[in-house]
Amino acid sequence: MKHVAVSQHEFVDMRYWSAYFKGTTSAGSCTSNKLIIQNRKMMSSLPLTVAALCCVVFVLGALPFSSDAQLDPSFYKDNCSNVHSIVREVIRNVSKSDPRILASLIRLHFHDCFVQGCDASILLNDTSTIVSEQSAGPNNNSIRGLDVVNQIKTAVENACPGIVSCADILALAAEISSVLAHGPDWKVPLGRRDSLTANRTLANQNLPPPTFNLTQLKSAFANQGLNTTDLVALSGAHTIGRAKCSTFIGRLYNFSNTGNPDPTLNTTLLQTLQALCPNGGPGTNLTNLDLTTPDTFDNNYYSNLQSQNGLLQTDQELFSTSGADTIAIVNSFINNQTLFYENFKASMIKMSKIGVLTGSQGEIRAQCNFVNGNSSSSTSFGLATAATKESSSEDGIVSSI
Ligand code: HEM
Repeated sequence: MKHVAVSQHEFVDMRYWSAYFKGTTSAGSCTSNKLIIQNRKMMSSLPLTVAALCCVVFVLGALPFSSDAQLDPSFYKDNCSNVHSIVREVIRNVSKSDPRILASLIRLHFHDCFVQGCDASILLNDTSTIVSEQSAGPNNNSIRGLDVVNQIKTAVENACPGIVSCADILALAAEISSVLAHGPDWKVPLGRRDSLTANRTLANQNLPPPTFNLTQLKSAFANQGLNTTDLVALSGAHTIGRAKCSTFIGRLYNFSNTGNPDPTLNTTLLQTLQALCPNGGPGTNLTNLDLTTPDTFDNNYYSNLQSQNGLLQTDQELFSTSGADTIAIVNSFINNQTLFYENFKASMIKMSKIGVLTGSQGEIRAQCNFVNGNSSSSTSFGLATAATKESSSEDGIVSSI
């Protein structure tokens, strides 16, 4: 069995290095090479070791220094040690009547992290100063679970007021959802803080559409410091959850203006999907992303790809792009579910560290939908946000496949 490496953190580290050089004050008197050289000149009478020490301190001060290094799974051990079980209980209860919520919460974390980092920016409602990400193309009428996040936040605030960030709640909710769907668990690094801003333009730019080809997908992930293995492993989240007809209808009738369906779509599945999603229909019906085990977090997502049963074009691209390096990774995950789990965990942790705010950056929001002190000037819909207006546990029809 070929082991698939997951530990390429170079891209992420470069981002943090540049952020470090641009902004933080903790670099102190050694913030630039120029400064170090000036210091050395001034210190010419001092033993060389002192200057060397300064540089060692500088280098050591800069290394973990990426804000992600300040994240720690035991971050709340002294002031909110029960946070994990509080979050789990809310999700467990909601999932009894709405099993899809597990998928929706995992996706929410992904859509948060890909837009200015894992900072809960996706949760911010429209106000006079905030242009919400919730109405960006990939989110609008699509993301779910914002009301559940508010429920979690209320429960957490009751136990430990003003301590736990909404960004950490999203990260915890993703891990807990994986476990509740019988998927892997992992120790969630914590200590993120919440943003003061949102960026709808960036949401439209950074979140990949389901029509991307493999090259475009790789590049969207590389922009976030995620490599090809991360792309394949994280796409495995499509082992649970649903998608609307509008997200794959382009494959059913006139794929890439050929006048024919996508040739990489299994013909039996094609017929089922054409029945569910009539040409020119509203595109709002839903079907399972994983047609074999729709609510279980397993590796069947990958075996579906082998039989051309991937639902989204972007899913099938991972296996059907000729000569692609992703094929071997998909095969390895089909052959070894543990390997998939290990890679998924590592990639989720890596994704959860993208662009995080720590220390005194950002804030701990009192309400996840508003920056502190700004809810009164809101022009929004209130706590139930545009993207959570749906009230039923399943919106639209779910096909019976
Ligand atoms: C690789 C690029 C990706 C694309 C193009 C993509 C696209 C989509 C689309 C179009 C949907 C259906 C949305 C709807 O019909 O409203 C969806 C659902 C979902 N996505 Fe992705 N996705 C990608 C990666 C990811 C990643 C990295 C994760 C998490 C780690 C993820 C987790 C999910 C989940 C769990 C659902 C089901 C949500 C639900 O049922 O509420 N996706 N995705």
